[in-house]
Amino acid sequence: MWQERKTWLTRLPLPVPETLKTPLEAAEFEIGQAGVRAAFTVEKDGGESYEILPVDGGYRITGGETGILFGAYALIRGLTTGCVPAGRQKPFYPLRMLNGWDNMDGTVERGYAGRSMWFEGGRFDYEPARVRQLGRMLASCGVNVLCVNNVNVHQPAQHLTDTLLPDLARFAALLRPFGVRLMICIDFSLPMQEGLPTADPLDEQVQAWWKERAKKIWAAVPDLAGFLVKADSEHRPGPNTYGRTHAEGANMLARAVAPFGGVLIWRAFVYNCMQDWRDTKTDRPRAAYDLYKPLDGQFDGNVIVQVKYGPFDFQVREPVSPLLLGMEKTNLALELQLAQEYTGHQIDLFAMPPLWREIFDGMGKERAKAVAAVSNLGRDENWTGHPFAALNLYAFGRFGWEPDIAPETVIREWVRLSYDLAPAQEDALTELLLSSRDAYEQYTANLGLCWMVRPESHYGPSPYGYEFDRWGTYNRADRNGVGIDRTDAGTGYVSQYPEALKKLYENPETCPDKLLLFFHRLPYDFRMKDGRTLIQRLYDDHFQGCARAESMKGVLESLPLPDADKREILERIDGQIKNAREWRDITNTFFHRLSGAADEKGRKIYE
Ligand code: GCU
Repeated sequence: MWQERKTWLTRLPLPVPETLKTPLEAAEFEIGQAGVRAAFTVEKDGGESYEILPVDGGYRITGGETGILFGAYALIRGLTTGCVPAGRQKPFYPLRMLNGWDNMDGTVERGYAGRSMWFEGGRFDYEPARVRQLGRMLASCGVNVLCVNNVNVHQPAQHLTDTLLPDLARFAALLRPFGVRLMICIDFSLPMQEGLPTADPLDEQVQAWWKERAKKIWAAVPDLAGFLVKADSEHRPGPNTYGRTHAEGANMLARAVAPFGGVLIWRAFVYNCMQDWRDTKTDRPRAAYDLYKPLDGQFDGNVIVQVKYGPFDFQVREPVSPLLLGMEKTNLALELQLAQEYTGHQIDLFAMPPLWREIFDGMGKERAKAVAAVSNLGRDENWTGHPFAALNLYAFGRFGWEPDIAPETVIREWVRLSYDLAPAQEDALTELLLSSRDAYEQYTANLGLCWMVRPESHYGPSPYGYEFDRWGTYNRADRNGVGIDRTDAGTGYVSQYPEALKKLYENPETCPDKLLLFFHRLPYDFRMKDGRTLIQRLYDDHFQGCARAESMKGVLESLPLPDADKREILERIDGQIKNAREWRDITNTFFHRLSGAADEKGRKIYE
């Protein structure tokens, strides 16, 4: 039963009572049930900030109503981890949003934890008790907005018709006591689907239509956070149809939501998805910067442009998106993906904090005004498919408050809050999670190679799976070498970076090994910094990564975890090992055939 699966909430009781109506009541309940002595001082304009002070053998939490709830969770967490936050705390990013890619038919795009937790059969359908528990999960790690529907709004009318608004309002009410507000995705062409001849953003009728729409929606859900839009991307409609810019499109919608304090989030995931693989000039990673950089400064104040962390699409490793570095006069949101689309489908272990650390450091945390992450939740009993995948949701919320947090700190926190382990076991699990991304990268796509996955599913190896397709996703491997020249002699992508980074990346001698083939096309006998040839490094990483996956099993077997978690974890590690062996063998064979080079260590390369 999901009620017994508490992930990092082990120390909190179940269920959450339905009587809780405000964040303050929720805070009182949590503190009381956790057996902590704490009093509250409510500040009228305290917002989400709080301060915890020790007093008379207990604590006093001072803050706004929602701040007190966040403070209560921080106190409970701190008493478990031995680190109660001192001084005034406030979230670094005011907007910390989980993006559900949930469709109203109950499916979840790129979902690996079962069907949607809140949609089924074309409407809202959920267990209220579970949604309350969801609110608590989100608040307890610091997330404050949930976007309920997929960015691909397949059946837009269903979301915004008047008949659905009361359901949206009821759903919002369940999350409100936890300081979590809703956001919804909208379809740019909606006015046409409802009878208007156009969706042109400069058309006055269209503008009036959206204003009216917004009025109705906010009347039902007065604290709705805003609209999220995927436009002119992967066949979604958008302003380009009318020869209008994305700034014109976004601003039109932003003006409709502004009277209600709403924000308009506009995704920058826009590229040519109908490319000819023989065209070597069009380079997909360039697309977002080429489109948006000239629009910098043209977006209204309540528009936030949401940018994926890398220039491609949530690959195992990508350089930080140059758009995050280049849009100085635009509000930006950093988009992460908890759903493990390219990172193991919540079968393979992939703890994300090390990846995010690189991204936040690479972009500079102040470049973004908000953080968003594609959800990894579903109706599965354990919430996230793999019990350990809950770590990524927890860590996302924590990074939203403290983007400087060390990966090891957040992973250890989650482990301690979720399980009762002896110190050596806690160390072993923390270390395993901390290194899981490196292992996955080694046996899948190392050195900045992307996209060597099976088409559609994105699970399992297929070195040429995306090579001759229309998506702009190539590795250009042939008998002469592998990788893409993205220097000025090649596609010029590297020039989208500030000078210092450009210099670092454009020279294969200084380019970090882990991104080498992202920026360069190199022959198989290229000498790497450590003296190995490129082909040997490709082989070595695949053997090593696979061996690392194999060695995880013993660690997992030794841990005293709750039965249900243990059963699922051991099932999944077998799946991961199978996957890792397949990647090792198929990838090594692929490169062996192309290069003709033998493995120096004489290991078996399957053919
Ligand atoms: C990826 C993913 C799609 C998704 C898209 C997006 O391409 O495979 O399922 O719709 O990203 O982020 O919009």
